[in-house]
Amino acid sequence: MATTQIIDDIPGDKSISHRSIIIGSLATGISQFKGFLCSDDCLNTLKIFQQLGVSIERKGTSVTINSNGVAGLQTPSNILDVGNSGTGIRLIAGALAGSSISAVLTGDHSIQKRPMGRIIDPLSKMGANVSAENQLPPITIKGNSSLKDGFHYKMPIASAQVKSAILLSAISANITVDITQPEECRDHTERMLQLFGASITTSSKGVISLAKSTLKAPEGVTQIPADISSALFFICYAVMANQPMIFKNIGLNQSRIGCLEILKMMGTQIKVDHHSNTYEPMGDITVLPSINRTNITVPVDLIPNIIDELPILAMLALTQEGVFKVRGAEELRVKESDRIDGICRLVRALGANVDEFDDGFDITGPLNLANSFEFDAHFDHRLAMSALISATVFRVNSKVIGEESIKTSFPNFKDILKKISLV
Ligand code: S3P
Repeated sequence: MATTQIIDDIPGDKSISHRSIIIGSLATGISQFKGFLCSDDCLNTLKIFQQLGVSIERKGTSVTINSNGVAGLQTPSNILDVGNSGTGIRLIAGALAGSSISAVLTGDHSIQKRPMGRIIDPLSKMGANVSAENQLPPITIKGNSSLKDGFHYKMPIASAQVKSAILLSAISANITVDITQPEECRDHTERMLQLFGASITTSSKGVISLAKSTLKAPEGVTQIPADISSALFFICYAVMANQPMIFKNIGLNQSRIGCLEILKMMGTQIKVDHHSNTYEPMGDITVLPSINRTNITVPVDLIPNIIDELPILAMLALTQEGVFKVRGAEELRVKESDRIDGICRLVRALGANVDEFDDGFDITGPLNLANSFEFDAHFDHRLAMSALISATVFRVNSKVIGEESIKTSFPNFKDILKKISLV
């Protein structure tokens, strides 16, 4: 049997890294984090809070934030640029909407096409002065710290970015809010707010209640776990290439591990060892050789949990018999690019059959492998990485246009790909 490779350099979680900067800046005191993701998206968020007057120092993946809290934020002299990050623009807009400062937030070509009505609607109902022409960036915020206390919002979509924008605006404005989510979606904001002393609970019916809270930096250094969404590219590589691997210190938050459930449903042999359960659970994932794998219909209620993982899961489906059926995933159309279109184009370029639907796709495996392929990732990091993983597993020549986008979330992706493909 092939020797088991240990992968211990998956970088920090993107969602948690953004929140470390935002929540650390809204808190008073000195917040320290290690394992920060030094990708373009998270570095843009860090730079934005420096522009807002917060003292933030970074040495490698260690970050120290020294803040006077919301009251210490200053109106920036420039337009704030989030680059490619939907999480950045929506969470920062929320955080600033409850403060007394004014700012304009924008980003790259892709960001300027992403819908902002989903946060502008609830923030406006709360009394914030937030606007964007045609509900697209740039977003203009005119500081208004007297938001409606006791606001209740029923989210029409299961979006952690929308939920977080509302929670962060309530923290900045020091008000109470209740939010009902239609399905569970990632809860990193709730967990980190709790770590910083906020009074926040989630009921069994999915209602999140935040009481008036001021944030205070926690004692000691807070570890950011490795990003399971990034790890999954290589977990799928291990499965597709039948190469045993262990992935160390990966974030195992319940609202993010739906992808492991999908892998198990497909017949993949995966072992998960939890070894730490602080504010965010963390552990090791072992991929073992799996003989009987088949495609499945993805349960619709798991979609919000695996929304970022569908491109690479679609690549795995190419190596298995049966139909990989995805529905209820219309949110994929408004990510960094239209990912339903991107996944279908990539699957066809690789030589498999796919039927496209408004809210998903049917991929029929296994593929009839093309000799080579060309794919335009439309500057979407997850599509580019999915294409490169497939090209490497299938050992076909490829031309992937827009692979520079990978540095927005996974700067050492190519180093790990090189290391494991030499085995
Ligand atoms: C994120 C939430 C998800 C996800 C994105 C990161 C977050 O987006 O797709 O990559 O950090 O809150 P939605 O909230 O739009 O589902």
